[in-house]
Amino acid sequence: MFKGFYKKKISERRAMIDEFRPNLHIMLKQLPESVANNMIENYLMNYELPLGVAVNFTINEEAYVVPMAVEEPSVIAAASNAGKILGNIQTSYGEREIVGQIVLAEIDDPVKVLAKLEAERETLLSIAKDHAQNMVRRGGGPLGLRFEHKMSEMTDYIVIYLTFNPCDAMGANAVNTCLEAMAPHIEAVVGQDALIRILSNYSETAIARAETQVMVAKLHQDREQAHQIAKRIAMASDYASIDIYRATTHNKGIMNGIDAVAIATGNDWRAIEASVHAYASRTGNYQPLTRWTYDAEAEILLGSIELPLPVAVVGGTISVHPIAQWSLELLNQPSASQLSQIMAAVGLAQNFGAIRALVTEGIQKGHMSLQARSLAMQVGATEEEVEPLVAQLKASPTMSSTVAADLLEQLRGQVSEERKDVKYNRNR
Ligand code: MEV
Repeated sequence: MFKGFYKKKISERRAMIDEFRPNLHIMLKQLPESVANNMIENYLMNYELPLGVAVNFTINEEAYVVPMAVEEPSVIAAASNAGKILGNIQTSYGEREIVGQIVLAEIDDPVKVLAKLEAERETLLSIAKDHAQNMVRRGGGPLGLRFEHKMSEMTDYIVIYLTFNPCDAMGANAVNTCLEAMAPHIEAVVGQDALIRILSNYSETAIARAETQVMVAKLHQDREQAHQIAKRIAMASDYASIDIYRATTHNKGIMNGIDAVAIATGNDWRAIEASVHAYASRTGNYQPLTRWTYDAEAEILLGSIELPLPVAVVGGTISVHPIAQWSLELLNQPSASQLSQIMAAVGLAQNFGAIRALVTEGIQKGHMSLQARSLAMQVGATEEEVEPLVAQLKASPTMSSTVAADLLEQLRGQVSEERKDVKYNRNR
């Protein structure tokens, strides 16, 4: 359905999206000043990012067109292309669970404090539930409490962990409200003030997973080269697991796709980034989030990704931002856990696209044309001048804004000479 989507005019692309989701009105959505002014403090204007769509995604046998807001060229092209090659991506999700912490410091007798807290477990949980009635009514809210003693060189701490099901919301406000409601009771029981009461962005249980199997033949027409590419992809993946320099960039490429979907859907991408990178280093050794293995005999390349994706589909910015609403509608109104799985699938595809390019032609080739386009606009090329200038930039041995400006000047010179010629010939 989306064949050659990238070559279409913007209006044609919009019409195709309209056809894909007939009730989704593609008219240009904007964030109204009145809404933006209530989202942040000292508001002045909106900062815009381009929003495009990755096409060709099949997740759990269902077709998706994925909204992505991103400033970096090639990200959407790579995701769409990878989506086509990978075919169906199978996904799953762990617990819908976030964690909040109340930290008590300067604890003289940890055993005694732990015992006091244990005796208050039910009371504390019921205080939390009373302050999260909306969530409890929706089937979520406080799940349980855990108490721990931790030590540093400075002092002894007792930590109260509250686990919480945020349903389809991010849950930060709900958890913080519960923690601040529980803290006075804890302070009274223990006899000292809490140091910190706040949600943690780390989770080991709210994990999204995606996996795919690609027939090696899909990687190249030539069988031998296809096998070579599959093996090189597996080696690049393996290498990332032993080198933090590579693992960091490997994961950055994954987050290119995930953050773009997070931004398009109004999600807190800083929370996602913090959570994902903490998870990548959970063994004490920063690791790649994906893994690619190659089965030469079965002629398949297997890919998988596993990462925490604390996302929401209601509440906060999401419910008031018209573009976030539009993006969620384009995704057919997923639940929060479905959205995390879509993001995991995009991350896996984004990583496949990047590694495939890296182990074959490199990434610069794919970047060239968009880079040329961006330079053409930077130096002020008009709509008619963009295409000829891009062609010249691509043919030039180096690409920079200086080269682009020189070529544009030459192009304008040529055009005015041609115009003079036409005028001269007409006058003869
Ligand atoms: C660039 O934004 C992302 C890549 O560097 C990712 C990678 O190297 O895997 C291409």
